[in-house]
Amino acid sequence: MRHSRRSPLRTVQFDHFGGVEALELVEMEKPVPGPGEVLVEVLAAGVNHIEAFLRQGRYGEDFPVDFPSGQGSDFSGIVRGIGDGVSRVAKGAEVMGHAEMCSHSNYIVVPERNVVAKPRNLSWEVAGALFLAGVAAEDAVQAVHPGPGDTVVISAAAGGVGGIEAHLALHRGATVIGTCGARNFDYLRNIRVKPVLYGDGLADRIRAAAPGPVTAYIDNFGGDNVSVSEELGVAPARFRSSADRLAVEMRAIRPTPEQAIEHTRVLAKLAGLAADRVVNVLISGFYPFASVREAFDDLEKHHARGKIVLGMNAVDSSYHGVSGTKLREVLEDSD
Ligand SMILES: NC(=O)c1ccc[n+]([C@@H]2O[C@H](COP(=O)([O-])OP(=O)(O)OC[C@H]3O[C@@H](n4cnc5c(N)ncnc54)[C@H](OP(=O)(O)O)[C@@H]3O)[C@@H](O)[C@H]2O)c1
Repeated sequence: MRHSRRSPLRTVQFDHFGGVEALELVEMEKPVPGPGEVLVEVLAAGVNHIEAFLRQGRYGEDFPVDFPSGQGSDFSGIVRGIGDGVSRVAKGAEVMGHAEMCSHSNYIVVPERNVVAKPRNLSWEVAGALFLAGVAAEDAVQAVHPGPGDTVVISAAAGGVGGIEAHLALHRGATVIGTCGARNFDYLRNIRVKPVLYGDGLADRIRAAAPGPVTAYIDNFGGDNVSVSEELGVAPARFRSSADRLAVEMRAIRPTPEQAIEHTRVLAKLAGLAADRVVNVLISGFYPFASVREAFDDLEKHHARGKIVLGMNAVDSSYHGVSGTKLREVLEDSD
């Protein structure tokens, strides 16, 4: 990683498709906000699988990437400058928001419409990790609209998106069954989700855990969840696939102006639910900015619990070693 303490802007870029080694921390001129834009000093930013998928070059012409490319959608931070015509936020405002493939930076410029006030009782880390996972979760839960009397299955329920979906479905009064590995049983029970081990025989285990028929199914993971849902007799209209989720995430990372406004509305709603402790986002991996490769290494093992975030102003990166801080030592030991 190349960086200088004197540089006003450091940002993550990749100039070819590849693994985490393609990620570089580069120095650039600090951007200046134009009309309707704000300059934000980013304090925390979530990392997401779709960023890794794009960097790996999975999507070709379906989602063209110009090199060098930035990355990152989620962020929280402090407004440090405002352009002409900005009226809703002032310098010094604590905000959270979404950026177009550039939030893994210590400063960004985004349209004013992309930020909302950060509730005071939300940590920077949670606020900075809420956007992409939250938009995907809200879309999935709205699509299958669980309510009292419903039993909804959520695959990868202990992950960043599944956890938010679980809180939203519980808030709507549904019973939630979550698929996970054995290590996450207690975590899911703790958030009022019935844990069921994924793998062969999943449908039978779900039937045994469910209080009645399964009426909705949100699949984050892919694999055999479609056939499990069919086996359980879930109506196709109440099954949400990981492909549906991918489409939502694609829109969220490169939206039209109208979509960006809608995403900000969803983020504001989720920020309120998180401030009210209805949606609780567990941060299980915190990495200093310079350890962005390690953050993605961790994410790409597919066993994160809750979200993984980058902290842009970690006071002393060496304190935790180059690997950052993981709150999942049990996982590390058992793999
Ligand atoms: N198709 C798509 O477009 C798309 C888009 C984004 C993400 N995804 C995938 O969906 C998964 C969840 O997304 P996320 O953003 O919430 O990621 P995440 O935070 O990395 O999710 C990690 C969770 O996935 C669980 N998991 C691992 N293997 C599983 C399996 N075979 N069945 C069910 N759960 C499993 C893990 O539970 P344990 O540690 O208990 O195993 C862990 O809690 C990720 O693996 C991701 O690659 C798919």
